[in-house]
Amino acid sequence: MEYQQRLQTQITNRDKAKAYIKNKSFDTIATHGVYDLNEALANQGSVIEPVFMSTAQGFSHADELQAALAYEIPSWSYTRIHNPTLYYLESTLALLESYDCGVEAGCCVTSSGMSAITTVTDALLADSPHANFVSSSQIYGGSFQQFSIRQAQKNRQVRWVAPDAPMQSWAAQIDENTRFIYIEVPSNPGLAMCDIEMLAGLAHANNIPLIVDATLATPALIRPFQFGADIVIHSLSKIIAASGSVIGGAIIAKENITARFLPDDVSANFCQHLKLLPNRDNGACLSPMQAFLVLSELRTLRMRVDAFSQNTLKVAQFLQGHPKVEQVLYPGLLDYPQYQLAQKYFELVDSAKNSLHNQPEKRYGHLLSFRVKDGVQAAKQVINNLRLIFCATDLGRVKTIATIPAISTHQQQGDKGRQLANIPDNLIRLSVGAENADDIIQDLDQALGNHNNCNNNHHGNIDVLQRPHR
Ligand SMILES: Cc1ncc(COP(=O)(O)O)c(C=O)c1O
Repeated sequence: MEYQQRLQTQITNRDKAKAYIKNKSFDTIATHGVYDLNEALANQGSVIEPVFMSTAQGFSHADELQAALAYEIPSWSYTRIHNPTLYYLESTLALLESYDCGVEAGCCVTSSGMSAITTVTDALLADSPHANFVSSSQIYGGSFQQFSIRQAQKNRQVRWVAPDAPMQSWAAQIDENTRFIYIEVPSNPGLAMCDIEMLAGLAHANNIPLIVDATLATPALIRPFQFGADIVIHSLSKIIAASGSVIGGAIIAKENITARFLPDDVSANFCQHLKLLPNRDNGACLSPMQAFLVLSELRTLRMRVDAFSQNTLKVAQFLQGHPKVEQVLYPGLLDYPQYQLAQKYFELVDSAKNSLHNQPEKRYGHLLSFRVKDGVQAAKQVINNLRLIFCATDLGRVKTIATIPAISTHQQQGDKGRQLANIPDNLIRLSVGAENADDIIQDLDQALGNHNNCNNNHHGNIDVLQRPHR
């Protein structure tokens, strides 16, 4: 039939496009993805991936409709199930996350980072009345609530382990009902690291998958598949789409994840399973417009991560020497408690290839946290004094943003939960953006109330009284 011929050509062209781009550098993949000339010619020659706003796909024949809904032929049918713009984004994310890892991967994008986490964890915990899972205790506040409250409502037990706990402590939490190990690397807001390689080994010894939320690292810095992880989660709402107009999430799973409790065809292509079945039924799809915005920002991910990371290191070094600051947490600082682990995992992708002497560049990301002396009131005062830096419950932005996790992102987990997650009340989380580092430093310096320490006084002091009321 005519449609079969058409689809066969599409499959062949798409396979060729993927095989071609797969061997290119990270920046090239991020820029082009799988959208090549053949794909463009099928889209009126459009150089940039089009946004398919149509809710549904029209079919040429009843048999084509039937085969599409039986998932027997490539199709997108209905945007809650799939959509061409989502295909471009998912293919690019899968290629970037598996870049230089020697694995094949699939991707399923979702309506938010939280829906990505829920989609994965629900799918792995389904079908068992007594399922439990082991998680690092230092994770984003929303994930903490999802695990400790929502999963508990479904009779599923989270078993917390400190990220730096020895292997025996992790192993002791695993039994025959354990479905996965979950970590966040580095963690929000404490910047804690977990040993991905060690935990992947432990997970696989128990025939269960290791899931890594690598939102803060992005594939430009850490690609957990390189160290054996099975599933990677991203909130696309963060530095991947730094301009701040997207809420989205992504699940990227390698082929044949280790999961003794899943049927072979599900573990073979876990993301396709999530996309075509649970996510279709739960309805947490990403809008094509949001997918288009993510694609547009993804092209410059590595350069942005590089620039933000360099800025963040300068700001971290400034804060470290500030008399009003009790402690700075940033993986790039020599006194960072898990410095060795940070050295093992952080590296700017393709930096050795791009450097004159083939030396890899260490970059540590855009997030740091610092503790202000004199407690929470002093920390609040610093936030109130900020003039350039926004106070907001957000991160990964092109604009520098500060918050106090204990009263914002991690407020709802309560004192006990924050103790478990190691989030003191006087901790300020700072997401460093694209401004000139000197200007960020100057704002922090005046907010901390110590102008003598300012590295850059050529702008003159900012009159705190003139700042807009917050
Ligand atoms: C590490 C991490 N994972 C997941 C999420 C949730 O993402 P979203 O806000 O897109 O639902 C966040 C949000 O801050 C996060 O920081």
